[in-house]
Amino acid sequence: MCGIVGYIGTKRSYPILMKGLHRLEYRGYDSAGCALISDEDNNLHVYKAKGKVSDLEATANEKDTTGTLGIAHTRWATHGIPSEVNAHPHISESGNITLVHNGIIENYVTLREQLKKRGFTFHSETDTEVLVQLIEYTQNKLGCGLGNAVRNALRLVVGAYAIAVIDKRHPDQLVAARKSSPLAVGVVEDNSEFFLASDASPIVEYTNQIVYLKDEEVAIIQRNHPLKVYNLKGTEADTEVKEVDLDLSMLDHEGYPHFMLKEIFDQPNVLKDCMRGRVVESPYSHAPQVILSAVTNNRRQLLRARRIVIVSCGTSWHAGLIGKQLIEHFCRIPVEVAYASEFRYSEPVIEHDDVIIPISQSGETADTLAAIQLAKQQGALVYGIVNGVGSSIARESDTGTYIHVGPEIGVASTKAFTGQVTVLTMLALALGMIKGTVEQDEYEATIRELQLIPTKIEKILLQNDKIKNLASIFTYAKNFLYLGRGYNYPVALEGALKLKEISYIHAEGYPAAEMKHGPIALIDEEMPVVFLTNHHRRYQKVISNLQEVISRHGRILAIIEEGDEQVKNMVTDFIEVPSTLSCLAPLLSVIPLQLLSYHIAVARGLNVDQPRNLAKSVTVE
Ligand code: AGP
Ligand code: GLU
Repeated sequence: MCGIVGYIGTKRSYPILMKGLHRLEYRGYDSAGCALISDEDNNLHVYKAKGKVSDLEATANEKDTTGTLGIAHTRWATHGIPSEVNAHPHISESGNITLVHNGIIENYVTLREQLKKRGFTFHSETDTEVLVQLIEYTQNKLGCGLGNAVRNALRLVVGAYAIAVIDKRHPDQLVAARKSSPLAVGVVEDNSEFFLASDASPIVEYTNQIVYLKDEEVAIIQRNHPLKVYNLKGTEADTEVKEVDLDLSMLDHEGYPHFMLKEIFDQPNVLKDCMRGRVVESPYSHAPQVILSAVTNNRRQLLRARRIVIVSCGTSWHAGLIGKQLIEHFCRIPVEVAYASEFRYSEPVIEHDDVIIPISQSGETADTLAAIQLAKQQGALVYGIVNGVGSSIARESDTGTYIHVGPEIGVASTKAFTGQVTVLTMLALALGMIKGTVEQDEYEATIRELQLIPTKIEKILLQNDKIKNLASIFTYAKNFLYLGRGYNYPVALEGALKLKEISYIHAEGYPAAEMKHGPIALIDEEMPVVFLTNHHRRYQKVISNLQEVISRHGRILAIIEEGDEQVKNMVTDFIEVPSTLSCLAPLLSVIPLQLLSYHIAVARGLNVDQPRNLAKSVTVE
């Protein structure tokens, strides 16, 4: 993880770097640092602070922050505790070269021992410090410029990296490189300035012309010179400039106290964006239809698929579990859902006629990326469902559908989940239609109902105050159970994950009927049980499971379908969600669970957007 920002040009770099770091803080916030070449004394100034970017600003604002070249970093520690000394940038033995890094250097122990023997000293516990020393060693040995030193040094490195490097003797140049960790370069037409960042969000307000570096590419960035990119062997590579448009308003709280709350409230609008141009009226019959270009363009391969494997992590994995039920129902194709981290090392059997669906909000999750690289080697079609436009997973996929819900900044995923489930619903419908496995009536009824989901979510959001009050009852809890069946079982898992992530309360999601095989032993009058009773095809079975909890005096909070008098008479606390089809129930029942975890965390005084130990995108294994 970690966020990297760099700037070289005509403007003062420090404000650009700090603003960029704030945008990238979702990637990590253990410590932050920057390196600037000062206009005043032409010297290199490095400032670091443990904690957030605001802590760095508190340290650096009073100091010399002049200069038009700089690099900066916000860290999510992998090697070495979060501390000032482990914070990036790291500086070379001579003090000339300084570098920021995102990734893990796997052979750092060997390299460090070799460099120590050659007189290099190490101050931090990080893997990163070997990089800066290795670059200096290579430069001294080969007597070359910074770009060649970086390139040759990286040939000795095993692992993942995105780096930005500067040398105080060359204030006209910034060198960057990547392998398995993302890095984007923003360019302007006259080459007077360049922006570097882990994703496009710190760049787009200055330029929408972006070059995404590819694996093992080194970029030599010089003022007033065109961008040059080389592979590690030194051959010049072609660069492709992409036009990236990001809605910057999405990067601000817009009056909400937290990004998470804003993103929960964004859902009605962004789900409309997600469906725009994809859920349409047929010009001939005026019947609704789903058109996904990726399905149309890959029709033959998709029709041939004998199996679909969904690979993802965390919340995206929960969306995958819903996707499995949707695809199996509408398309009658067997679907497996794998944790990407397990899949990649499990010797998976992948056939060339399998379809692999990576699901990822960020599009940068290292485990998911590695899983699809493996699948591609076996010739399977990779159909990405991704939010991060131009992200690594989007680029590695053969085809796919963006969820288009805008940047998600809160570490706890909310709108990305409902966006993923919406895309999976559209995919299942579109594929089911071309396969002939869905009846026209059900197809049309499901699409019509999908179109109503944003309005129904708006109705649930009106209950925010009620949910806030309910949350205040439950702040005492140390454990929670979330129970649901069928389409609502993955929602139970997701509700439990949301609570764990931001409230630090232990929570388990369970299939409601499986509870009697063990977890029922946990139930007493202290144990809150969030019970999803809405929209199950076997409603009475769910009610029996609910009865089992009531009989053991569990403290129930039920998510019920509007007007469900039977459950209202059984429990004291409930939240009503509008009626819908069972296959669309997750899009509604997850909303109160998002709000519940949000309000519990706020009531407990916790940092909702930046929970401890977590980072938004996990770009390390
Ligand atoms: C969700 O709230 C989490 N922060 C996390 O589980 C996340 O869903 C997971 O890391 C996968 O991320 P991705 O969707 O960006 O690949
Ligand atoms: N491995 C480096 C460190 O711990 C970078 C971490 C990262 O990219 O997550 O400082």
